[in-house]
Amino acid sequence: YSFTRLLRYSRSLHSDIAFAFDIDGVLLRSKEPIPGASEALKLCQEHKIPFILLTNGGGTLENQRTAFMSDALRLSLSPSQIIQSHTPFKTLVSKFKKVLAVGSPTVRDVAETYGFEKVVHPMDIVRYEPSIAPFSGTTKDKLMEISREIPGLDKDPFEAILVFNDPRDWGADIQIILDILNSDSGMLNTMRQPNESDLEKPSVPIYFSNNDLVWANQYTLNRIGQGAFRTVIETLYSELNSGARLQNTIIGKPTKVTYDFAHHILINWREKLIKDTKEDIPLPSLGVAPETSPFRKVFMVGDNPASDIIGAHNYGWSTCLVRTGVYRDGDPLPCKPTMICDDALSAVRRAIETCD
Ligand code: G3P
Ligand code: MG
Repeated sequence: YSFTRLLRYSRSLHSDIAFAFDIDGVLLRSKEPIPGASEALKLCQEHKIPFILLTNGGGTLENQRTAFMSDALRLSLSPSQIIQSHTPFKTLVSKFKKVLAVGSPTVRDVAETYGFEKVVHPMDIVRYEPSIAPFSGTTKDKLMEISREIPGLDKDPFEAILVFNDPRDWGADIQIILDILNSDSGMLNTMRQPNESDLEKPSVPIYFSNNDLVWANQYTLNRIGQGAFRTVIETLYSELNSGARLQNTIIGKPTKVTYDFAHHILINWREKLIKDTKEDIPLPSLGVAPETSPFRKVFMVGDNPASDIIGAHNYGWSTCLVRTGVYRDGDPLPCKPTMICDDALSAVRRAIETCD
């Protein structure tokens, strides 16, 4: 690896290659930066190579998350450079008025800031009537701290269930989600008369923001994630509906919807870098692929073969699988990554070299 070579290539390539970095297991483990992560991003910044952070994590607003990341990695990141699992939910604001926002208590603020008119968190429902969730694991004090009293909670219907990030009180969340999926047109405290021919369709649409079965935090073994929660919801829905398979929408990596969304953001971020403007990046539409791309190569740097790597591979991007997270040498792989590297820094260096 020669730094002078890198400098030469990056000068000529800076606008036709790009990177998308995963966060958990690539840049951070829990809140701790992974060695080399900061240097990897700084290398891109120094050479004006456009990059975004593409995570299946969430629970905070994009500007809060980038402020935290900038601080942890000691560099400056823009909120326009991050796509969290639930960022594409912004495009649903005009479609649904009253939503059940499932996840950490902070997702209420995220949903409201995105612009959803009526946001209800499952804990608001437990507060309204604790017997709805007899197996909730939330203490009374905690419940009073994180929930709100919502006037007329049972007077108008829920229009969608949006799972923003990993639920915190599975006992209550599972019960409440199933209640609403099986309700009469989204009304709390009701149960539909199921139409035997249409059992797959729940009363209210449900969206999962990611499908990660496992992810990597600071513990030595991988932890179950939102994909595991989805499995529980689907299984119980099926049991309660004569074996019907729950219709649902999954976004986040590895779905094409999220890669298209990320691709638009990357293209717009590149424009912003080239023009050096402060203009806001327009929000892409969901499910629309960019018509053209200025990139010869986009490298996805990720630790999860089932999310980052297969998603980017299917999308036609190059893939750098790193050893700092979910993946362990010898694990079965869903496709052959373009390269397997020790960490994000070696991935960036090798990726740039391959653009020779
Ligand atoms: O909950 C977070 C996790 O599922 C994955 O995050 O950054 O590895 O895509 P990330
Ligand atoms: Mg990861």
